[in-house]
Amino acid sequence: MERIPPSGTFKMFELANRLESEGKRIFHFEVGQPDFPTPDNIVKAGVDALKQGFTRYTSSRGIPSLLQAVETFYGKRDIDIDGGKNVIITPGAKMALFQGFLSTIDAGDDVLILAPGWPTYRVMARTASAKPVDVNTKPGYELDEEALKNAIDKSVTALVISSPNNPTGGILTTEQLKIIFDLAVDHDFAIFSDEIYEAIVYDGNIQPSMLEVDPYLERSLVINGFSKTYAMTGWRLGFAVGNEETIDNMVRIQQNTTSCATSFVQHAGVEALGGDQSSIIQMVKDYQQRRDVITDLMNKIPGVSCVNPQGAFYVFPDFSAVGLSSQTLAELLLQKAGVCSTPGIVFGKKYDSHLRFSYAASITDIQEGIAVLAEFLLNLY
Ligand SMILES: Cc1ncc(COP(=O)(O)O)c(C=O)c1O
Repeated sequence: MERIPPSGTFKMFELANRLESEGKRIFHFEVGQPDFPTPDNIVKAGVDALKQGFTRYTSSRGIPSLLQAVETFYGKRDIDIDGGKNVIITPGAKMALFQGFLSTIDAGDDVLILAPGWPTYRVMARTASAKPVDVNTKPGYELDEEALKNAIDKSVTALVISSPNNPTGGILTTEQLKIIFDLAVDHDFAIFSDEIYEAIVYDGNIQPSMLEVDPYLERSLVINGFSKTYAMTGWRLGFAVGNEETIDNMVRIQQNTTSCATSFVQHAGVEALGGDQSSIIQMVKDYQQRRDVITDLMNKIPGVSCVNPQGAFYVFPDFSAVGLSSQTLAELLLQKAGVCSTPGIVFGKKYDSHLRFSYAASITDIQEGIAVLAEFLLNLY
């Protein structure tokens, strides 16, 4: 258990809930989940499946119609995979990642994590008895090729990337993905590409998939899911795409752990991937509007600098001028001003002057919350 620290995000969330129950007004910018409801067509598909009696175990790989829906989903982007061989459906992307780690990584291996990175990657690497090693990026999650090359040695067996990135919202370009893939081939390591935020990108950009760069799935395991794109965090549905051997291994782990993703939820997933996408387009538009508001407001605060995110729903401003550790600043901010964020340190040692704010919140809450933050900082100076 020493390898598994409590989640930094949930720690803040629980503290915020306690203050809230004492009657304090709290602006929630800490937890990374959409504030939108799951679209009606998806809810209906789940309810229909439940009523139709899809309440039993399914194949550990996933129901055939959802495996096929994943194949079609990528096929529309000219990415050619075999749903029956290259896909596993899991209870959330987190579980897909965990199975991927357990099936690929040995005790004593080094696992590189492109930082800043979601803390769960580090915990999962340690759970697999491996050593997580951060490889820092340039501001906005831009690949630092030299830093990556310098970090590669014989003990490295995997690299984890997440684009769009949690916490910066930065995205890796096709060129950067190619550099990563070439290094993985030359130095014989696996790539875990967490693409869970791929649909939430702004300004008309498209997030390239590692599957386009590694079409034969030589090195990559792509992790994806429904939580963020379809506002389905509580449904627990995700998937992974990889070569047959890795997916077969993950199926064996799933057979012996969770058995399968929830049966009727998988049916809702078929509707999510294949059904009407208009509500998703609207959600992304709304996120972009919120992104514009929060980035602008942050950058207007003296001493705060905030890179404009290209995707996901987080900003990761730098508070170096304040001169406090991110944990101290986040706790002060919550206790004194009711603004809840996540300390940057949980995303990597180098990021202790940052705080992460999730803008999966209403524009009014963003405006009010950031005004309170600005006033708090002014008083602090
Ligand atoms: C980068 C990243 N990957 C994966 C997940 C988890 O997704 P799921 O809800 O499908 O387990 C999250 C959730 O916060 C995340 O930020």
